[in-house]
Amino acid sequence: MKQYDCYMTCPRGLEQTLSNEITEIINKENSPAKGGVKFFATKHDIYKLNYHSRVGMNLLIKLFKDKASNVDQLYKVIFKYEWDKLIEPNKTFSIRTKINSKSIPNQNFTTLKIKDAIVDKIQKKLGSRPSVDKKNPDFYITIYIKDNRILVFLNSSGKPLFMRGYRTKIHKAAINESLASGILKSTNFHKNKVLYDPMCGSGTFLIEAAMQIFNIPAGYVRENYAFFNFQNFDGKLWETIKKEGNNAINCKEIVLNGSDVIDKNIDLCIESSKKLGLEKYISFKRSDFRNIQPKETSGTVLINPPYGHRIGEVDKLRSMYKDFGDHIKNNFSGFDGYIFTGNLELLKHVGLRTKQKMILKNGKIDCRLAYYPLRSGKY
Ligand SMILES: C[S@@+](CC[C@H](N)C(=O)[O-])C[C@H]1O[C@@H](n2cnc3c(N)ncnc32)[C@H](O)[C@@H]1O
Repeated sequence: MKQYDCYMTCPRGLEQTLSNEITEIINKENSPAKGGVKFFATKHDIYKLNYHSRVGMNLLIKLFKDKASNVDQLYKVIFKYEWDKLIEPNKTFSIRTKINSKSIPNQNFTTLKIKDAIVDKIQKKLGSRPSVDKKNPDFYITIYIKDNRILVFLNSSGKPLFMRGYRTKIHKAAINESLASGILKSTNFHKNKVLYDPMCGSGTFLIEAAMQIFNIPAGYVRENYAFFNFQNFDGKLWETIKKEGNNAINCKEIVLNGSDVIDKNIDLCIESSKKLGLEKYISFKRSDFRNIQPKETSGTVLINPPYGHRIGEVDKLRSMYKDFGDHIKNNFSGFDGYIFTGNLELLKHVGLRTKQKMILKNGKIDCRLAYYPLRSGKY
């Protein structure tokens, strides 16, 4: 079976987590790199990873690599590739570039040149040209340029895999599902299967936690992947992979409690959980975190509090972070506490001793996942 040279992207800081996940899903050797993981995979593996990966964001298939020292040379190396065998003229495509080079500018002009090379080649070979669709293309081309090295990929996922399809609306401060899932895999939640998120926003941690424990495939309600448009798409193979994944779903007894001060957020959580049939497994309610007290004597309490952008906001948040630290110290004894935040200064106000701080990125924001084992006695 043909092996494709693949690169799966993930949130920065979760490369090893994704590497472990790839081993679990397709049992293939792989090597973590910056912002993703490299490996070889069959078509079967590619479909399976797209359906099951919780931490991966885009599964890219390498088309070719080459060298170019200026934009004209870039046009030539892109033109050389057999685009006519990949994209039919009646299809659409988009181009995403990541350029870090002194000789090739990181500008629209470069992307336009790449686009010209692709459509010119198809026009020359097939007599007509495909068009660009930035929003909903059939083919997603990703090009990395570092100095004079050009790496060209075809994205098999299309829209990033964190777009699972269970959200109806997006909470403005929601973290993406791949990051949320990777954070959960970095906590002790899997050991104790009790999770509280008393600042749950749109409920991402709780919904991802239920999906992980119940074995619900990450793509269970997602309707589209770019590989559906590939000429060699094997619908039967895809259906088999989905069926195998769906047959392994197993809903168990588990404690998942989410709360937030804003009613609308709770409505969002309930809507999303219903899309996955999870509404009876997760309890969501409106409450200030200061009123949340667990019945259990051990478990995980995980929050992603507001980071604050404006000065006035940050002042208020200092006392909120302190109150949260005091609250979990007094009420969640025996639990493992975790705070995921993009504001490292605010974290200092929690006032508890950190056992571990994991470095992560939320997009471009430098973040920490701080771990506080909450045991009775001194902190
Ligand atoms: C950064 S958002 C959390 C986003 C969430 N992780 C998600 O993925 O949707 C922070 C949340 O804390 C909530 N919040 C702020 N103050 C609170 C308080 N005193 N008690 C409970 N929730 C609070 C906000 O309403 C907001 O939804």
